[in-house]
Amino acid sequence: MYRHFIRLLRHIDNTLVYKFAYQWTRISGILHSLPLVKTAPPRKPVTLMGMEFPNPLGLAAGFDRDAGLLKWIAPAGFGFVEVGTVNFSREKEQSADNARIIANIEEARKQNGHPLIGISLGSLNETPDARMLGDYREAMAVFWRYADYLVINLSRPGGFARSPDPPDDDLRKLLLSIAQYREELAARQGTQVPVLIKLALDKPCNEQPLAIQLIKEAGLDGVIVAFERWRSREKVINTIRNLDHWTGSLPLVVVGGIRTPEDAEEYFEAGAGLVQLYTALVEQGPFVGKKIVTSLPSRKHA
Ligand SMILES: Cc1cc2nc3c(=O)[nH]c(=O)nc-3n(C[C@H](O)[C@H](O)[C@H](O)COP(=O)(O)O)c2cc1C
Repeated sequence: MYRHFIRLLRHIDNTLVYKFAYQWTRISGILHSLPLVKTAPPRKPVTLMGMEFPNPLGLAAGFDRDAGLLKWIAPAGFGFVEVGTVNFSREKEQSADNARIIANIEEARKQNGHPLIGISLGSLNETPDARMLGDYREAMAVFWRYADYLVINLSRPGGFARSPDPPDDDLRKLLLSIAQYREELAARQGTQVPVLIKLALDKPCNEQPLAIQLIKEAGLDGVIVAFERWRSREKVINTIRNLDHWTGSLPLVVVGGIRTPEDAEEYFEAGAGLVQLYTALVEQGPFVGKKIVTSLPSRKHA
């Protein structure tokens, strides 16, 4: 029924699909929190990057852009969520937007059993230069105290890191400087916050992507790899296996193409430490998270 309705909405206006899925997730979260129907979200704890995730399924970036849904993410079954992407430009006034996101996060943290909260940061400046670096650094400083982990989003379509021939030196400089700023913030604020990099792969690779090598060299805390619009499941799984080998002890989060518990399980078996989804929540509705997590075997450490 839900899927038919989504298909119909897609015909009318694609943007309505997301709006509907967002509101439906919120409403069902409210219903799930009522005393009479309240059920505990499934717990399948996983320890990674020194944090205990209530379960290894996350809601990917782009769905809860301003953290307005945070209260309803755990009831929907997710163990963690990536708020944003918050796209920064120091040339634009955005303190009101940031304040709203921070207020939403603080409100959600008052609740028992909230998910772990990642915040995805982007730059509106397209070219890797001092302005882009400045955007990322300012964004890190603004959200440092409110995040369980931060993500530098380099997966944006059309972004420099996604070009077939990314400028190596620029990427190296950017990653090193982000790692260095992470140390400065940790010292200044007295708290450690893991910083991950989100990349998107557009095709299979037989050799270690330079970006992975540079993330390791920079000493960053993890990588999120997005597989978007891949037709061959087999190629995705083989690539995750290779990534698992290349990343070694660097935590690997995988997103893209998860629709069923079997999909998630295959990704874990291939080497993902955590997984995320987006489209399945839109297409199948807010029960998909619980359905997937309930079917997963428990794994204490990823
Ligand atoms: C409408 C839409 C908006 C998105 N916005 C973001 C975003 O702001 N930041 C980001 O890192 N990824 C964004 N993504 C990508 C998702 O986080 C995810 O990587 C991608 O959809 C693949 O997962 P899926 O197959 O489960 O949908 C977006 C995806 C969609 C469909």
